[in-house]
Amino acid sequence: MEEKREISDWWSQNPMTYGIDHGTTKYETEGHALETSLGSREFFENADRQLYEWNRPLHDDTGPFGRIFPYAEYRGRPVLEIGCGMGGMAMLWASRGALVTAVDLNPTAVEQTRRRFELFGFRGRIQQEDANRLSFADAEPPKRSSSWTSAAATATSLAGCRPGRAVGACRRG
Ligand SMILES: C[S@@+](CC[C@H](N)C(=O)[O-])C[C@H]1O[C@@H](n2cnc3c(N)ncnc32)[C@H](O)[C@@H]1O
Repeated sequence: MEEKREISDWWSQNPMTYGIDHGTTKYETEGHALETSLGSREFFENADRQLYEWNRPLHDDTGPFGRIFPYAEYRGRPVLEIGCGMGGMAMLWASRGALVTAVDLNPTAVEQTRRRFELFGFRGRIQQEDANRLSFADAEPPKRSSSWTSAAATATSLAGCRPGRAVGACRRG
């Protein structure tokens, strides 16, 4: 439990902002540095721009990450995003009509993802949860999830219990 608290605290203090330096809200745009504030529309737009730019090879004509996320198959269906961070991936799914549940261990991520959904007009269930002990795992197993590192392994094992469930893991790079 102590380890989980340390992980949560670290990610709260160093959120996945895709800024010039990890955890910062400063972005390079058109040759100059732009300081944004966490939770602002400008912050989310720049974080997304950078996220998409870093992952350009994964995009196709269906949108960002279209090469790994079959959005059309999940319209109107539940998608679980584990380790949602600042909510960029969760919002992509919501924007394609998926019924998004997004969870994260750290409260900053939950707060920011809720803020983002509100700002951009999307609906979703966004909760602070440890992916290893999801409160709703039995009631609503994941149809699809996207995440990183250990959370991705959890998603894989959750989905593995239920034939027909799909899991996606997205890595940086
Ligand atoms: C590398 S960030 C990724 C954020 C986001 N998915 C993205 O692509 O920008 C990893 C996130 O996973 C969360 N996380 C780590 N372990 C977790 C767990 N056991 N349950 C839920 N979230 C977890 C962290 O708090 C952090 O926000």
